[in-house]
Amino acid sequence: MTQHPAPIVLDPVARDADAEHELLRAHGPATRIDILGVEAWSVSDPALLKELLTSPDVSKDARRHWPGFEEAVQTWPLALWVAATNMFTAYGGDHRRLRRIVAPAFSARRIAALKPTVEGLVEGLLDALEATPPGDVADVRDLFAYPLPMAVISRLLGVPDDRANEFRVLVNDVFATTLTPEEAAANTEQLYAMLDALIAAKRAEPGEDMASVLIALGEEGVDGQTLAEEELRDTLLLMINAGYETTVNLIDQAITTLLTDRGQLAHVREGRASWPDVVEETLRHSPPVKHLPLRYAVADIPLPDGRTIAKGEAILASYAAANRHPGWHDDPHAFDVTRITKEHLAFGHGIHFCLGAALARMEGEVALSAFFARFPDAELAPEEGDMGPVASLISNGHRSLPVRLRP
Ligand code: HEM
Repeated sequence: MTQHPAPIVLDPVARDADAEHELLRAHGPATRIDILGVEAWSVSDPALLKELLTSPDVSKDARRHWPGFEEAVQTWPLALWVAATNMFTAYGGDHRRLRRIVAPAFSARRIAALKPTVEGLVEGLLDALEATPPGDVADVRDLFAYPLPMAVISRLLGVPDDRANEFRVLVNDVFATTLTPEEAAANTEQLYAMLDALIAAKRAEPGEDMASVLIALGEEGVDGQTLAEEELRDTLLLMINAGYETTVNLIDQAITTLLTDRGQLAHVREGRASWPDVVEETLRHSPPVKHLPLRYAVADIPLPDGRTIAKGEAILASYAAANRHPGWHDDPHAFDVTRITKEHLAFGHGIHFCLGAALARMEGEVALSAFFARFPDAELAPEEGDMGPVASLISNGHRSLPVRLRP
């Protein structure tokens, strides 16, 4: 076992994430951290991170490549992040197989075809917000940023509208990093019970949705591909988790920033920047996922400073810290929709690059442009709600987003 100096203990409730990311960057391209009791290498240098994310010596399959797996499954609050069997936690051929099965649902053509549905959902949510009396404050995270991605992912998967809210509560707790191992295990059990009920309902009455397609794959196989029962359930689990809280944070962070800095909104209104620019700069500046647990070294990996990530050690992709690396962007902490290069790692990089990136970007653009068209004079009302950070070192959003829609 390699001996390491004491790790930086990451704050589970992320009281001051910016300062924590600064500290990580100050410790060099990679540094030892403790994430809820598990030690890992946090990588905050974008060049090194991209190298690791494309290296065959780095795996996301904890079962095969992490000696800490058995203990983590029993005692770590983030056990679900490493124990589920889907593309997110797969390596090599398994990853290719599991990703290929659902990838067609996220093609550019399919996402373009979904746009009118998203526009309709957005208009419906804005109509409901219109009922807020002038001068009153609405929680825009709760009433707009949340319900949109949940409705979109529910439609895609075939979750009935009246069940979507139950998933919402459970998914929030997957991203919370404040639960005890027992609480997290109970949450996982409830999530699985809901997914089992969804699968049973679709088996009895299949539809055109992704759940029905995946079930058919499991039963008959299509084009030589099949899906084990566990993989089916965990792929649905991944879709709900990945497609939801992340997009909520994107909409939340963009609205917060544009209402805080009117000059940025003016750039868009006056044609110096576009809504896609807003989405990209939000993803760079305030990415919805701060740190992504976990990866594992398949072999010893030498670092630029002479140290080594030893075979079997865990790696944390610290995307938010990397996005603001001074070696990557000028004035990295400034939110600037007009900056020429807005490159970021908010969706990851390499073979695990977010499958839903095109969908998330489309949802963000539709939601933001429609929101600011409908409520051009909206004002942030921080005194009327709790705008503190979500208590999570993964999820990057506000606890609420109080907005006076029509002052
Ligand atoms: C993977 C971010 C929206 C589906 C990921 C990863 C990140 C990410 C960081 C992991 C990359 C890694 O392994 O390090 C985001 C952000 C989103 C978003 C910031 C919104 C702004 C979505 C949506 C969906 C989705 C809407 C689908 C409905 C997936 C899937 C994976 C993934 C399936 C696993 C890909 C693989 O392991 O091969 N996403 N995501 N995501 N995301 Fe997203």
